[in-house]
Amino acid sequence: ASSLRCANTRTLLVFYISAYGATRRMAEAVAAGAESASSAAGEVRVSLYDLEGGDAQPFVDLIEEADALLFGSPTINGDAVKPVWDLLSSLTMVDVKGKLGAAFGSYGWSGEAVPMIEDRLRRLKLRVPVPGVRARLTPTADDFTACRDLGREIALHLLGRATPRTIDLAQLA
Ligand SMILES: Cc1cc2nc3c(=O)[nH]c(=O)nc-3n(C[C@H](O)[C@H](O)[C@H](O)COP(=O)(O)O)c2cc1C
Repeated sequence: ASSLRCANTRTLLVFYISAYGATRRMAEAVAAGAESASSAAGEVRVSLYDLEGGDAQPFVDLIEEADALLFGSPTINGDAVKPVWDLLSSLTMVDVKGKLGAAFGSYGWSGEAVPMIEDRLRRLKLRVPVPGVRARLTPTADDFTACRDLGREIALHLLGRATPRTIDLAQLA
């Protein structure tokens, strides 16, 4: 029997929170980059969710069905913000092992949120194949490019055709 559903369809969710709009604009660029990865080889369905004022519970079912989870948070008082932690803590109830994860966010000086989220994602047994993106205060054109690349790379990983990473031996030293 033939199926109308595209054989290679993946779901990518972008969750973010933003007080002044910088992380929101980064999230929009991440989502746009992820959308750009769809091709005849496969489709990535991208959804963007603002966590402001919301309850994490409705997202848990969506997360269960999703293939990649991206989280955007500014750094406030050396930490990611509560709605992000609330959602991440509800993931202990979901089988997220092997899904792809990534983090991004704007910061002012220390920027702990992104590495803290990445660390949490790894502890939850997600794969974090692409380094997160941090932008200092208002994102620049280069920052938005890095955000689009992040979304696109994760989406390409889902479709199984990520560009191989070249590791410079000098960077390992
Ligand atoms: C109350 C407050 C605390 C902050 N604490 C930190 C901090 O500890 N480290 C840091 O790098 N930036 C800190 N910032 C700066 C924010 O991360 C920065 O303004 C960021 O651009 C906000 O992103 P948004 O526009 O997505 O809300 C703080 C900002 C505020 C208002």
